[in-house]
Amino acid sequence: MADMEHSVCKEYVNLKPFNTLGINATARYLYPLYSEVELPAICQFADQKGLPLMPLGAGSNIVLHSDPDAVVMPILCKDKQITIHDDEVLLTASAGHNWHELVRWTLQHNYYGLENLSLIPGTAGAAPIQNIGAYGVEIKDSLVSVRGYCRLKKQFMLLTGDECEFGYRDSIFKRKLRNTFIITQITLRLSRTFSPNLSYDNLHKAVSHYPHKTLTALMISDTVCTIRKKKLPDPKQLGNVGSFFKNPLVTRQTLDKIRKKYTNAIAYTVNNDFYKLAAGWLIDACGLKGYRKGDAGVFQDQALVLVNYGKATGKEMLALAQFIQQQVFDTFNVLLEVEPCIYPYIIKKIAYTGN
Ligand code: EPU
Repeated sequence: MADMEHSVCKEYVNLKPFNTLGINATARYLYPLYSEVELPAICQFADQKGLPLMPLGAGSNIVLHSDPDAVVMPILCKDKQITIHDDEVLLTASAGHNWHELVRWTLQHNYYGLENLSLIPGTAGAAPIQNIGAYGVEIKDSLVSVRGYCRLKKQFMLLTGDECEFGYRDSIFKRKLRNTFIITQITLRLSRTFSPNLSYDNLHKAVSHYPHKTLTALMISDTVCTIRKKKLPDPKQLGNVGSFFKNPLVTRQTLDKIRKKYTNAIAYTVNNDFYKLAAGWLIDACGLKGYRKGDAGVFQDQALVLVNYGKATGKEMLALAQFIQQQVFDTFNVLLEVEPCIYPYIIKKIAYTGN
């Protein structure tokens, strides 16, 4: 049951500690959720105030362009439950669990399947929204269902994995159900038999020194952590939201055109017709790695990550993103799509301006 002492609504709260990009923005109201039973009342509170409700996980995939004139609701519910049927393990976890801690907990209990997704910042409830993925695995591969509150129907509902309409860094929660469905719980299917997924070349290489038979899921998790720590800045040290752009999908024709001029262009095959270009490589090839304007910059070790050196505003971060989009478009004729959620949503349409 909720700790009612904590579920207090506060006015005019600085959100800097609530977003990993470290943007200084003020929430009109901050109303934390400790138990899903409190959710209908918080929705009602927002409706009465005539304000949007803004659920927040760890704030690791959001760019605050302006002060949210909204009821910002950090989701802090933390229950979990395990059901075991032979080899199969069903883990049901409340939305507020820290994702990486949950992954490590599964591995300590010898439940396998999430090891490649180690050290991804954020919460369990936010993970399905962008269908988190890394090193050849996406959450959709193990997701059984998502429970949440539908604000239109005013009731809790269960969506199956198929109903979540997952795509690359995409789901129904980013589209049709944006603003109307609040995720409170996820159920994942794990296994008690370890079967490594080494389809991602860099990970395969990084574990190749372990004799195959001695490789454990914890070793994979540790290796993923090491790779991520080398490439990606720790949000506690340097504000960031991970990849700022999606890897763009292009046709064979576009890829061939680019490779005529840039023989080292990096791309992954999606199917016979489409390829995913490495957006980090595109930005890097434009000479923008390490580029900095004021306190908004392109991370020096991975150009796909934009960083806040301290006092950058959301507007400055997005102006930098737009500049990068323009440079990449002018050089490669490819449009980069911003990956994190932008508040307010309307300016998500940040795109090539055509001049
Ligand atoms: N590259 C460069 N220059 C750069 C950055 C990358 O040349 O500045 C090259 C790398 O050398 C590599 C290729 O681009 O050959 C791809 O880079 P990397 O392996 O780092 O992966 P990514 O495509 O940049 C994606 C995900 C990451 C995920 C990794 C590993 C997206 C948008 N990003 O990055 O996810 O950790 O693969 O699976 O799909 C995130 O979503 O926040 C995130 C970090």
